[in-house]
Amino acid sequence: MPLRIGDAACKRGPIRLGERTAWEPGGPRLGCSRMRGQFITFEGGEGAGKSTQVARLAARLRGAGHDVVVTREPGGSVGADQIRALLVEGEPGRWDAIAELLLVFAARRDHLRRTVWPALDRGAIVLCDRFTDSTMAYQGYGRGLGREPVDRVRHVAIGDFHPDTTLLLDIAVEVGLARAGARGGKESRFEHFDADFHGRVREGFLDIAAREPNRCVVLDATQGMDSLEAAIWARVAPRLASP
Ligand SMILES: Nc1ncnc2c1ncn2[C@@H]1O[C@H](COP(=O)(O)OP(=O)(O)O)[C@@H](O)[C@H]1O
Ligand SMILES: [Mg+2]
Repeated sequence: MPLRIGDAACKRGPIRLGERTAWEPGGPRLGCSRMRGQFITFEGGEGAGKSTQVARLAARLRGAGHDVVVTREPGGSVGADQIRALLVEGEPGRWDAIAELLLVFAARRDHLRRTVWPALDRGAIVLCDRFTDSTMAYQGYGRGLGREPVDRVRHVAIGDFHPDTTLLLDIAVEVGLARAGARGGKESRFEHFDADFHGRVREGFLDIAAREPNRCVVLDATQGMDSLEAAIWARVAPRLASP
């Protein structure tokens, strides 16, 4: 007979319940709707201004006395940062779409277990530069895997964990790529995919936001940095508990 979690034999066996955190599939608080912290993600194509706005929102939140953790994907933990290099550096064709999908979720799981879930458990606001919507947009829509394989792997890797709020910075592909190109650096693997790819990624993000309007806020990322920062604050501030 298969062992069930909770059986005495299971507790002595290789499944170590103590390693499960509150948020993961089968974890003690799964199904509990109240999270202690808040998980806010930034999404959008290359050069949309995500990293700029993550830093600005973090400064505002800290100024208001909140415990803030800033992180990014792929990466955000030691293991996930090692996987990041495999994904964002090198030749565009070094992985096929499915290998890419699996690498992204391997990194994401490590990031959640080691960085995000512990921070949420202690009540922090976690700001994350890219998350699962990027995987859906890049591998699902951009690389043409479709939504279903991404959803299936997502379910295995992270269950139904999802952000409280997602800020989608929307910008024309050419404008975003021009900004990203000017930024330089070696993490440019996805910038070398063709314009059609980036067009599908943009449409993918907008489709995701249209499907989940309660979670996602679409913002015009062509506006100036200060005005975008104010628009983001107007969306985030009303949802905050006092620090
Ligand atoms: N609203 C904006 N208007 C003009 N330039 C911007 C704006 N936001 C960011 N930038 C610039 O564009 C480049 C890419 O911004 P970044 O925040 O790194 O984008 P992302 O993280 O989305 O790729 C940077 O050089 C940044 O200074
Ligand atoms: Mg960035």
